[in-house]
Amino acid sequence: MISSLASETPHFYFLTLFPDVIHAYLNSSMMKRAIDKGFFKVTVLNIRDFTNSPHKKVDDTPYGGGAGMVLMCQPVLDAFRSIEGDLRQGRTKVLMTSPAGAVFQHETAKHFAETVLDFVFFCGHYEGFDARLLELIPQMQEISIGDFVLTGGELPALAMLDAMARFIPNVVKEASSVENDSFYNGLLDFPHYTKPAVYEGIAVPDVLLSGHHGAIDAWRSAESLKKTQLVRPDLL
Ligand SMILES: C[S@@+](CC[C@H](N)C(=O)[O-])C[C@H]1O[C@@H](n2cnc3c(N)ncnc32)[C@H](O)[C@@H]1O
Repeated sequence: MISSLASETPHFYFLTLFPDVIHAYLNSSMMKRAIDKGFFKVTVLNIRDFTNSPHKKVDDTPYGGGAGMVLMCQPVLDAFRSIEGDLRQGRTKVLMTSPAGAVFQHETAKHFAETVLDFVFFCGHYEGFDARLLELIPQMQEISIGDFVLTGGELPALAMLDAMARFIPNVVKEASSVENDSFYNGLLDFPHYTKPAVYEGIAVPDVLLSGHHGAIDAWRSAESLKKTQLVRPDLL
């Protein structure tokens, strides 16, 4: 959990052509509660609002030919420049979502959440952004959420926000909940059960009903290890 930065509120900026996608997710459940309580802030910029084109054009065909459209530099750069002055020096990550970026992992989420205050997510669409944006904004890093291709960068950006927000104090009410989740200690989570104790003939493991906290902890550790060995031996 973050401690030293707890007094400074993190701020997530989204540059997107589809602001509704961002708002739809952030308007419910734990993220809505966290924003309403001021645990972090969100600003969503519609790239289309920044185009100089009379027809509100934001993309064009690729030089060299081929399928798809490419997001033009001008509206994207102007959108970024409209917030650039608000970004806290040395505490900002500018992230271009892209399947061709470095892969965002649990450790990335934790490290960024502990060291960064302002996040700017560039959400692409179609073939993605004009590559010159990476030169025009030298601090920008390409970042991927895995080896697959989605139609847009909104879901990847939201997935990253969500993963990082879990490390912001009070977003998840009980810190121990985050610390017991998969990856936190290098292993996958142990199995969870709730009432009733028997469902369709399947009983909850006896140890969980025993009230012996030592035995329960030992069982959970063993189950965690067993599952990791089976499903993700690469983590060990
Ligand atoms: C269809 S993709 C572009 C794919 C790109 N031409 C390529 O092959 O690398 C459109 C947008 O979706 C987002 N995107 C798709 N898959 C992603 C992933 N795995 N991680 C992060 N962003 C992704 C990016 O914003 C990207 O610009």
